[in-house]
Amino acid sequence: MKFFALPGHIAISGLVLLAAAIPAQSAQPIPHLEKRGVATQLIVDGKPYLALAGETANTASSSLEYMEPVWPRLVRMNLNTVLVAVAWDWIEPVEGRYDFTLVDGLLAGARKNNLHVMFLWFGSWKNGISSFVPAWVKAGQDRFPRVQIKSGKSIEVLSTFSAANLDADTRAYTAFMRHLREVDSERQTVVMIQMQNEVGILGDSRDRSAAAEAAFAGPVPQELADYLQKIKDRLDPELLRTWGSAGCKAAGTWSEVFGPGRATDEIFMAWNYARYLDRITRAGKEEYPLPVFTNTWIVQPEDNGPGDYPSGGPEPLVIDIWKAGAPSIDINAPDIYRPNFAEWVGRFHRDNNPLFVPESRGDAGGAANAFFAIGQHASIGYSPFGIDNPGRLLVMRPEAGAPAPTDIDNLPLPRAYAVLAQLAPLILEHQAGGTIAGALLDAEHPTQEIPLGDYVLTVDLRRNRRDPTQVPALGYGIFMAVGPDEYFLAGNDIQVTFTPHTPGPAVAGLAEVWAGRFVDGKWMPGRKLSGDDILLNYKLGEAAAVNQSGSGLRFGPDGPTIQRVKLYRYQ
Ligand code: DGJ
Repeated sequence: MKFFALPGHIAISGLVLLAAAIPAQSAQPIPHLEKRGVATQLIVDGKPYLALAGETANTASSSLEYMEPVWPRLVRMNLNTVLVAVAWDWIEPVEGRYDFTLVDGLLAGARKNNLHVMFLWFGSWKNGISSFVPAWVKAGQDRFPRVQIKSGKSIEVLSTFSAANLDADTRAYTAFMRHLREVDSERQTVVMIQMQNEVGILGDSRDRSAAAEAAFAGPVPQELADYLQKIKDRLDPELLRTWGSAGCKAAGTWSEVFGPGRATDEIFMAWNYARYLDRITRAGKEEYPLPVFTNTWIVQPEDNGPGDYPSGGPEPLVIDIWKAGAPSIDINAPDIYRPNFAEWVGRFHRDNNPLFVPESRGDAGGAANAFFAIGQHASIGYSPFGIDNPGRLLVMRPEAGAPAPTDIDNLPLPRAYAVLAQLAPLILEHQAGGTIAGALLDAEHPTQEIPLGDYVLTVDLRRNRRDPTQVPALGYGIFMAVGPDEYFLAGNDIQVTFTPHTPGPAVAGLAEVWAGRFVDGKWMPGRKLSGDDILLNYKLGEAAAVNQSGSGLRFGPDGPTIQRVKLYRYQ
């Protein structure tokens, strides 16, 4: 038997027993989440960890041969973590017979390349649909009931209202987690687990099978009613509106408590999916308590309501329902392909829901997203989808047959990851300290004002000095206040000016500016920047009128690059 140490802070039922049963001999506690300062961080090897990750296509990890050339490419792209699927079908193709050859092969591939892994458990559902369940589950409809929709038809989606479905998935998942404990609790290659993928009902707003209809006609469970009353003041405003318009009742049927309509169907399904996933997650954590997150299909502009997007998934509207129903899930995470990335991460990042972005884009926009999520929302990491296809680092959906780039280490995301890797120790320290921020700028949001330390940073898209109307389409940065009047900044296509917001002289001047890099955590200054490097314009009268010096930090288009600045103040 392998031994592992348990993180002291995780409180799940059964853990005390487990801790007693498994002596803690390994030097480090297993990967876990921990509140450090104002941030919740992923702790790996006893230290906060920044996941510079990518997710492979759904079935990439079903073939070790396919993965063989992928591993070293991930390293070249500067990833430290990869998200790969493990499907129920792949480990239990015959009922009751588990085969972990694939899991072991994936672990070997990752270890050989010094990568950490997050496994995605494609169990009962993947994108709402039950396409990754074993054939014996698919073909056993009498035993494993499906969702029934309004038309009376059943769809290829397992129903949450079935103990048989839940038990079968739980058995497979716990076998998988037991295996991980046996093969990985010492080496600790695996750092988090994703539970299912984009759960929820498509094609209707709720399950209409007989069991579902009976539950819907019954009372809202007391524990949910109590939870809502307890956190009423902090409830998501949209959920509060739905509940409030029905009178914020403490008891009654689902329609009585939340009113008639599809929002109630979504809340009802959210509760039932949450309970189902909680039971599986809890059982898995009793075997091996790695942190667990979900992945949410967010509402798209063309959607008219729940059922167009998976109804019941952990959308912002129902995250509180998920927190009540699935306390063993540590993070409800979004996958975001929509352009308003900043808004979406803001809706998922909450006091009780740390941010992790397990799925998003991998092109230049992805590099910007990574900087923003990590800097502004203390994200545990970032992970673009389809990372096994380097074409995705150029555009979100490369055409079939499009030539794959060969200079993969020189594309925006790998370059951004290289800089984030250099900065990681500093970033993690400042996430905990609450002294970090991020900016994500485009034509719609060309400027951002950020109070940080003793100054307000004004971050703009980098302007052409001769024609200030000329700006790039995208700019991004990450900023850390490292001491009085001192900042580390990294960015691409932005310019940054400073305005004091503490008593004293009104203008901030640039005392000293260096470009440079970190090597093994040590700052190595390069060029000392001045003159053209920092000049914004010669209109010193106009600048002085608004308490500006006319100079600022400029970050070019071929970065991101890192700068360190010391400021001084004058009247
Ligand atoms: C979102 C899903 O979560 C992924 O598994 C994948 O199917 C992508 N969509 C495809 O773009």
